[in-house]
Amino acid sequence: MIKPHGSDQLNPLYVQDDAARATLAKEAEGLPSLLLNSAAAANAVMLGAGYFNPLTGYMNLADALSVAEKLHTIDGLFWPVPIVNLTSADLVKETGIEPGSRIALRDPNVEGNPVLAVMDVDAVEAVSDEQIDFMAEKIFRTLDPEHPGVATFKSLGRTLLSGPIQVLNYSYFQGEFPETFRTAYEIRAEIAERGWEKVVAFQTRNPMHRAHEELCRMAMDDLGADGILIHMLLGKLKPGDIPAEVRDASIRKMVEVYFPENTVMITGYGFDMLYAGPREAVLHAVFRQNTGCTHLIVGRDHAGVGDYYGGFDAQTIFDEEVPEGALELEIYRADHTAYSKKLDKVVMMRDAPDHSKEDFVLLSGTKVREMLGNGIAPPPEFSRPEVAKILMDYYQSL
Ligand code: ADX
Repeated sequence: MIKPHGSDQLNPLYVQDDAARATLAKEAEGLPSLLLNSAAAANAVMLGAGYFNPLTGYMNLADALSVAEKLHTIDGLFWPVPIVNLTSADLVKETGIEPGSRIALRDPNVEGNPVLAVMDVDAVEAVSDEQIDFMAEKIFRTLDPEHPGVATFKSLGRTLLSGPIQVLNYSYFQGEFPETFRTAYEIRAEIAERGWEKVVAFQTRNPMHRAHEELCRMAMDDLGADGILIHMLLGKLKPGDIPAEVRDASIRKMVEVYFPENTVMITGYGFDMLYAGPREAVLHAVFRQNTGCTHLIVGRDHAGVGDYYGGFDAQTIFDEEVPEGALELEIYRADHTAYSKKLDKVVMMRDAPDHSKEDFVLLSGTKVREMLGNGIAPPPEFSRPEVAKILMDYYQSL
């Protein structure tokens, strides 16, 4: 089986032993505590679940700057996005946190703010506005405050707490998505159990229309894969994006009706969307390798938002910024995919003889939302009727 990133074994930071976890949870109640922001909480969930193997906690400033600038930690580990716990100087002062402190990290996304993880603080570092901008510019390729990822990153605070963590639970993800939320180690174990060798991951934060469905099929066929891991983001999105439970229901329906049994695993992970386009695509590749997938589909405007990225920047970054051998997982490069009227099927545009726009059934996201909101199903060439029904019900309930 494909190795995890950076180590022979996956080392998730969730405390697996029930007794040890209970003891740590008890100790945590007496520790100084810090209320996390959602980004830092999502990082803890990903670290706990083994997705961010081989990291052992939150990065210090030198690593965060180095990762932002050259996709490597100071020690030379390949890593595409700083994994940080940025907070406010006031909060740190109030709680008396200093290097050497053991602290309880509280969950902002669950009522009552229960302890999510315990952290042994190595360093407390002030981060300048210039350093924040430097990192944001490298990660997002823009400093436009309208970019949702830039806006979030710049709002996180100017004090960075670094050090190892031990994770006690998976926030709201297990409770809200019991069927779908899965850790990296669970997925790895299930892939091994199924005996799948070649596994393609499909990253998504949207419902799946015909283009997405066919992309999965094309990747399976072209690669001769044993199965597909549909791996949806379950964390926070920007306003207007479709909630996870609706996406989940529509994806489950599509798989049930249109895919052969035992070829698809429908799963999700607990992370907030960064909208970092190319850098996020590389992060996606790292954490799919940790789940045991051999390939990741990277199509048009992967993890993008607005017009900030070129349509295929999330593919070219793998040629330009991922050194040979840094990852074992390979990407499956998809061209813009749509239904061709001449060929009477969904194809990648580069494979269609007629490249004129008129040959393809193309609908903008805005147009699709408007149709669904008005109870009009998009054409079956664009959306499966079963999927359209679930989405129409959702938009009409708003
Ligand atoms: S993402 O932000 O999670 O990447 P989304 O769920 O829309 O967004 O896309 C999932 C995957 O499908 C990404 O790899 C994306 O590039 C790809 N994709 C979506 N639509 C198309 C399309 N029409 N043609 C080619 N690839 C596409």
